[in-house]
Amino acid sequence: MRRFPHGFLWGAATAAYQIEGSATVDGRGPSIWDTFARSPGRVLDGDTGDVAADHYHRYREDIAIMAGLGLPAYRFSVSWPRIQPTGRDPVNQAGLDHYDRLVDGLVEAGITPVLTLYHWDLPQSLEDAGGWGNRDTAARFADYAAVVAARLGDRVPLWTTLNEPWCSAFLGYASGVHAPGYTDPGLSLRAAHHLLLAHGFGVAAMRTVLPADAQVSITLNLGAVFPGSAGAGQAVRRIDGLANRLFLDPLLRGEYPTDVQEDTAALTDWSFVLPDDEKVIAAPIDVLGINYYTPTVVDVGEPEAGPSPWPGCDDVMFVPQPGPSTAMGWAIDAEGLRAVLHRVHDDYAGPPLMITENGAAFDDLPGADGSIHDHERISYLRDHLVVVHEAIESGVDLRGYFVWSLLDNFEWSFGYSKRFGIVHVDYATQRRVWKDSAYWYREVISANGIEEG
Ligand code: FCB
Repeated sequence: MRRFPHGFLWGAATAAYQIEGSATVDGRGPSIWDTFARSPGRVLDGDTGDVAADHYHRYREDIAIMAGLGLPAYRFSVSWPRIQPTGRDPVNQAGLDHYDRLVDGLVEAGITPVLTLYHWDLPQSLEDAGGWGNRDTAARFADYAAVVAARLGDRVPLWTTLNEPWCSAFLGYASGVHAPGYTDPGLSLRAAHHLLLAHGFGVAAMRTVLPADAQVSITLNLGAVFPGSAGAGQAVRRIDGLANRLFLDPLLRGEYPTDVQEDTAALTDWSFVLPDDEKVIAAPIDVLGINYYTPTVVDVGEPEAGPSPWPGCDDVMFVPQPGPSTAMGWAIDAEGLRAVLHRVHDDYAGPPLMITENGAAFDDLPGADGSIHDHERISYLRDHLVVVHEAIESGVDLRGYFVWSLLDNFEWSFGYSKRFGIVHVDYATQRRVWKDSAYWYREVISANGIEEG
């Protein structure tokens, strides 16, 4: 057995827009994902999160599933437009009440709630006022964070400000494949800064209302960037700059990487960074969350046609990777996770780490007897857990691991076509069925380890 350290936090993760549904129930306002999903051609098959996995109504059943799994922790996100339908006061008590009940249900079941404040569902009214391109959105986020922290801080020990600000900024404002769907590279850098500023303002606001022992974090989707050839140095530097250092440097060192600012000087003069901003962003955090799925291999060359999520990287190409991949077409390679963990450990004097998402989509279908033999998912999770275990053994301070995802859900622009759950959801009936990976994960949790070999 490879045993994990005592107290290692096992969990599963979800996000509000991807599972809740009930888009207009109990006073929820529209978010940018409601708008985006309704815009023709943006989401595969015109899918929306209107119903999703109906978790808003079925959260008790879902907590029972978690309890059955023996899940020690559950990472979920709060829908900002349920709390402030327009992104500002007044607060919608009915929205807060929902998360109050969810948190109570988790605590009663002995499951630690791990709360993310922003998993991409910006209130549409704030987008109408400029979205993440507008500095004021960062201040609005801090107000929202304080409202939720004041209500749930007595029961939620671990708080995450933002999930994957890289995606919000560069998929939302540069490649345009996520809401709000802009393709403006200069604006995307401005958005990235305002997201980081929101994190900094949010940390400060939460600290004033949270109990002293509550922990605060941010979750980044760091990139494992490998060179495609001996001459790939510049390409690696640029992608690493935008994927990793643009976020890690201000958060953990209090300054933006100057090479990234120089690389993008033709797109923006960076005047949106005001004198104290980097200090605000570097407010101490207690945990750094990392989401990992797949590595990238880059080289100097012609990028793909169409709007890129990599501003200023006009001479960088992504090299296709041979070998097995998931239903997303993402290469399966746990070495990327090893590289990311060691990089953060070696290059930054940061807080303890937590894997806040890791998992894989496969086209799993129930067999005739209803069971779902997702051995590819089990093998993916196992390979990555081996790397997690080895990283801990070699000194990386890694405190927990959350599978993405508890349930099949709305996979953003891919709609319901991609299934990441360890629990299958039949969207016609909302019936939940444990996949084999769920049974397997239950054993991992109960043994606090994985079988050797
Ligand atoms: C991450 C997101 C999560 C999910 C997975 C597959 O980027 O945080 O919501 O979509 O990818």
